[in-house]
Amino acid sequence: MPGALKVWPSWPEFTLKTAELDPSYRGYKKAIEAEYGAEALTASWLAVCKKLETVTDEIADKGTSVIPVLDFAEVKEGLSEQRKSEMRDRGCFVVRGVIDKEVVDGWFGDLKQYVADNRADIGGWPKETPFVLRLFWSPTQIKARSHPHSLLLQRTLNSLWHSNTLPSFAQPLSYADAVRIRPPKIPFFGLGPHIDAGSLSRWADPTYRKAYAAIFEGRPHEHDAYDLDARFEAKQALFEGSAHSSVLRAFQGWTALTDAGPGEGSLLLYPDLKTVIAYLLLRPFFKEPENKADVMDPTKWTFDTDSDWFPGTWQADSQNLSESSHPHLRLRECMVNIPAMRAGDSIWWHADMCHAVEVEHMGEGDSSVAYVAATPSTPENERYMRAQLQDFLKGVAPGDYSGKGELGFKGWVGDAAILAGEEGRRAAGFELRSMTLTMVSMLAPELGYYTGFRLGFLSHVLNNILERISVHAMQAILRHFASVRQN
Ligand SMILES: [Fe+2]
Repeated sequence: MPGALKVWPSWPEFTLKTAELDPSYRGYKKAIEAEYGAEALTASWLAVCKKLETVTDEIADKGTSVIPVLDFAEVKEGLSEQRKSEMRDRGCFVVRGVIDKEVVDGWFGDLKQYVADNRADIGGWPKETPFVLRLFWSPTQIKARSHPHSLLLQRTLNSLWHSNTLPSFAQPLSYADAVRIRPPKIPFFGLGPHIDAGSLSRWADPTYRKAYAAIFEGRPHEHDAYDLDARFEAKQALFEGSAHSSVLRAFQGWTALTDAGPGEGSLLLYPDLKTVIAYLLLRPFFKEPENKADVMDPTKWTFDTDSDWFPGTWQADSQNLSESSHPHLRLRECMVNIPAMRAGDSIWWHADMCHAVEVEHMGEGDSSVAYVAATPSTPENERYMRAQLQDFLKGVAPGDYSGKGELGFKGWVGDAAILAGEEGRRAAGFELRSMTLTMVSMLAPELGYYTGFRLGFLSHVLNNILERISVHAMQAILRHFASVRQN
């Protein structure tokens, strides 16, 4: 089993006894049953379990090697259709050499300094040994998100999705997430196999579950995991919970700030997209056979919507998976290490992909990554980004996260750290900052056409001037207050 864990960690098993049960939960199952019917759901269950036999055999046999690895040069040249379809099919991939190693080494040094200089005011997770740092605005993170190579890659990955209604969806948005500096030799059990982008909301939100209609209709092979139109209005964060991101990330990602190989606190992926998510969605509708010997035979499971149990599902948490609750996935054999990463490489996985973080870090040095996602421009994502920009300018944690403000931190440079000029600023939300200005900018070319004036150009200039003045003024004011507080 190349790439599979030699010892399966003592991650929790999710059983009915330890489940979160609420009398309203069966209502979601009943609603789906009423819409699609027991027959279609059962047909899908059988088809998906059958398909899993070959999926799991392939992954158990080939392991890590099924994860596509490409070089950033390919992205720069433009990906071939064949490459794109390979990436879409697998739903995860490594892109090597996105940022030059020397550049990243410098970034990592800067990050360590930023942390050392402000340590007393930096929170993190897990509580006992915090290494996922509640930092969002260090120059290193801002640069990792806005480096021209990173933005080009994000745009390319967004465009692996498709939409008929959002013409500019591939424009990347710089969703701000935390950063990790994981020291060696400290086990971490906090992130077993799970899927982000909500949990119960996949069934509870009528829009979200519609994105999986083919799976519920008995046509799981026709499920399109890249249909943005079906998904961009889904409420991932329907239920409150710090684990849920408000934005839809086309792909979640890590940009490696240090080298890290398997066994060095790296990432594990279940490198299948369509079959695993289909199984996960259907699993709550079926009750396992009494006889444990029959568990792997899907025909022995019975259709049941009278239970409130959604295995591995907690409203406030990401969607969890375990061996006993999701036996057909053969997690022990199919959660595989990603390839060894070098500083400047990046790994990406689809919003519906199961992943976990290695319990052990047996390497010698820090294993550090910046969480940089590919976030498409959808109305909801842009709404979040407008608020995120205000948080950025104030130096406080973005809406999806908590943490102390960074404005008075030594090393804070604010938006001066943004790379890639206007493109980087747009991704950070600057063009989205004012709806009025945005509307003026949008209307200006039309007005210009009818009036003969170059209002579009004027509006652009005005927009930029106002933006720069307001940003710098606001930062100066906030810095003043921060220094008054400290004194
Ligand atoms: Fe995750």
